Amino acid sequence: MGLVERVVFFMVLAALFVASMAEVYKVGDDNGWTTQNMPDYYKKWSASKAFKIGDSIVFEYSPQNNNVVQVSYEDYKKCNASSPIKTFASGKDTIPIKRKEHLFFICGFFDHCGKGQKVDIRVVTGDTPGAPTPPSAEAPTPSSSSPAPSPSVSVPSPSPNNAVSISKGLIGKFGFVILAVVAAVAY
Ligand SMILES: *[C@@H]1O[C@H](CO)[C@@H](O)[C@H](O)[C@H]1NC(C)=O
Repeated sequence: MGLVERVVFFMVLAALFVASMAEVYKVGDDNGWTTQNMPDYYKKWSASKAFKIGDSIVFEYSPQNNNVVQVSYEDYKKCNASSPIKTFASGKDTIPIKRKEHLFFICGFFDHCGKGQKVDIRVVTGDTPGAPTPPSAEAPTPSSSSPAPSPSVSVPSPSPNNAVSISKGLIGKFGFVILAVVAAVAY
């Protein structure tokens, strides 16, 4: 395989690896989704997470006494469950995060929401249309491959100076491109 093919091959591998890092967050961790009698309980929980596209959140609760009502921001503030966007009631509901958005959930039972059973999920990372594209993302596409890939394709090798930014980028948006190039060169 030429270098170009190897870069493409490792990019595919690395992209699969990055995709597999999607997280599943259980709301409230071990406590699950209950009336905590602590107004900020779930606010603190969600503030400690970095939700991204591809992740999921799971609400686990006793469905006899709780449910999950997705509402607007206004209804979230007022704990008003009377015009739900969506209602979940299975006792174990998994909600996939599909886009960069801000989601609001409350419990619709009695005054549970007023007692703190409410959570907002702010998706902080994901694909933002129009975001600047790092030069390293301009990888060759398989469709445009020339019959004989030139061996003179030059790939910048990481210098000690940008080692830090590369390691940060590994878990970032274009980390898989950098990883693929490094892997293909090293292979
Ligand atoms: C809750 O929402 C409904 C429908 O939007 C509205 O009619 C009602 O007045 C609201 N209740 C409160 C307490 O805001």
